[in-house]
Amino acid sequence: MRILLVASAFNSLTQRVHAELRERGHRLGVELALGNDLLRARVAQFEPDLILAPMLTTAIPEDIWTAHTVLIVHPGPKGDRGPSSLDWAIHEDAPEWGVTVLQAVAEMDAGPIWASEPFPVRTCGKSELYRNEVADAAVRAVLLAVERFESGDFTPEPLDYDREDVRGQLRPYHAQEFRRIDWAADSTETVLRKLRAADSQPGVLDELFGKRYFLHGGHREDELRGAPGTLIATRDGAVCRATTDGAVWLPQLRPARTPGGPVVFKRPATDVLGPDLLAGVPEVPVSPTAAATRDTWSELRYREENGVGYLEFAFASGAMSTDQCRRLLAAYRQACERPVDVLVLGPARDFFSNGIHLNVIEAADDAAEESWRNITAMDDLVEAILTTTDKVVISALAGNAAAGGVMLALAADEVWCRESAILNPHYRLMGLYGSEYWTYTLPKRVGQDTADRLTRETLPVGARAAGAIGLVDRVVSGSPAEFWASVRGAAEELAAAPELTERLVQKKQRRAEDEANKPLSAYRAEELAQMRQNFFGADEPYHQLRRNFVHKVCPQATPAHLLA
Ligand code: COA
Repeated sequence: MRILLVASAFNSLTQRVHAELRERGHRLGVELALGNDLLRARVAQFEPDLILAPMLTTAIPEDIWTAHTVLIVHPGPKGDRGPSSLDWAIHEDAPEWGVTVLQAVAEMDAGPIWASEPFPVRTCGKSELYRNEVADAAVRAVLLAVERFESGDFTPEPLDYDREDVRGQLRPYHAQEFRRIDWAADSTETVLRKLRAADSQPGVLDELFGKRYFLHGGHREDELRGAPGTLIATRDGAVCRATTDGAVWLPQLRPARTPGGPVVFKRPATDVLGPDLLAGVPEVPVSPTAAATRDTWSELRYREENGVGYLEFAFASGAMSTDQCRRLLAAYRQACERPVDVLVLGPARDFFSNGIHLNVIEAADDAAEESWRNITAMDDLVEAILTTTDKVVISALAGNAAAGGVMLALAADEVWCRESAILNPHYRLMGLYGSEYWTYTLPKRVGQDTADRLTRETLPVGARAAGAIGLVDRVVSGSPAEFWASVRGAAEELAAAPELTERLVQKKQRRAEDEANKPLSAYRAEELAQMRQNFFGADEPYHQLRRNFVHKVCPQATPAHLLA
């Protein structure tokens, strides 16, 4: 079928639906919802059999939904309506929620139902839930709805609140009044729920040192205590704030915008507050090994099980600043000292990595210099992985990765990927040539032609398609927990295999041959020469593209790479 995806942004769920439907042989078009006339023109030109909206915040005009079947993905169970479904689900501590595919009609979210799928509400931020459990349920519901539409004999179910399985309701916008934290009264559990319901957007509006900030993220602290509402510690850019019965970590802040003031965006909390306000608040570090046994906030955790080392990293939004790259490199070097032959890298859930930290760069006094420092730190990390010859290193991708984050994964010997992950192995949309030794690792894996195509087309690649072209080695279905159970089993098997010693000998040999053929330093120098031009050259698009990305500037039209 010819299916036109209409979306407010080509976000991860839209990319996932795109990859899944393309894989099933449908002809896909994408149109960003940037105006009714643009949409009308695109519908007339594409002549879709079906219009599908995986993530839409505006209404489809009546002349389109009367002439075509338009299916809307709504992140709520049957009967749920309104713009803040997931916020309410988390706020009210719902154990289970749903995704419903409905037909567009005049009234928002009130059309006949084509499919509805439940999912468990994990204890995590709203965006993380969206990219994982919601996305998985949405794909199941979309595939079922598309199949039903294609069959031609399915009658969608009218929304009927008298039905027993229609348990949702119309709810208002989840405004800041519902999110407000009362630090003198709210328990840690309540504070965390409010933070999770607002993460990553819009954050919880609050006050610190007499100024208004949006709080982003939120993690329990198991040991530190203090007077409710006070800041009691900092760690790796985050601040810890005491509650009535414990404390929570706040990794990122966004200053509230003042009328006429500059546009602001979120950044590590200690960067936003600055050293003067934080004078007297102690930095309380935790080692990756200690963090693995505690219920505290840490971007790094290290543990060993049955001969396998696991270095877990979890960076908000998958973005890795210069400092974060350096800390991960230090933890990686420590892990390399351990007597294990197999080392697994990757977060428990969500983004593996999205490359250099564009927000931190945007906020720097000299963005070009900070871009340079960040890419250099990233390259140092990748180089350390590439030159590890006494261990088998596995990248485990429970979630999505993009740009330098994909190339970071490729530095390992093997890349294992959850079936739901979406990879964007390209840099061009950010105006960058790219580094992270991608000119060495990508063609080695997929061949030069495919590497050229992937970086030229700049389209997302689903995990199964990535497996088929050799971009990843193993694709595992199921939830993030099931993925990790499978990763642990396979890694332990690898660690116990008699062939491991021989495999490490061969690894060392291959690296030496590759080095003799063309040293890693040459790849690095060539890539960085191009990146230097991107960062420091005149008329380079990178700085404007980064600014647009960080400030979430809406494009004027659907980007050309999505129109093909
Ligand atoms: N630096 C800073 N923030 C980043 C980031 C980066 N490299 N990559 C993603 N983010 C942030 C987004 O701003 C967004 O923030 P929000 O939750 O406050 O809105 C969040 O991460 C999720 O990203 P979003 O774009 O909403 O998610 P998505 O899953 O729909 O799309 C990507 C993911 C990776 C395709 C898209 O974010 C992207 O293109 N990122 C930039 C990749 C890049 O060019 N990196 C630099 C070169 S190495």
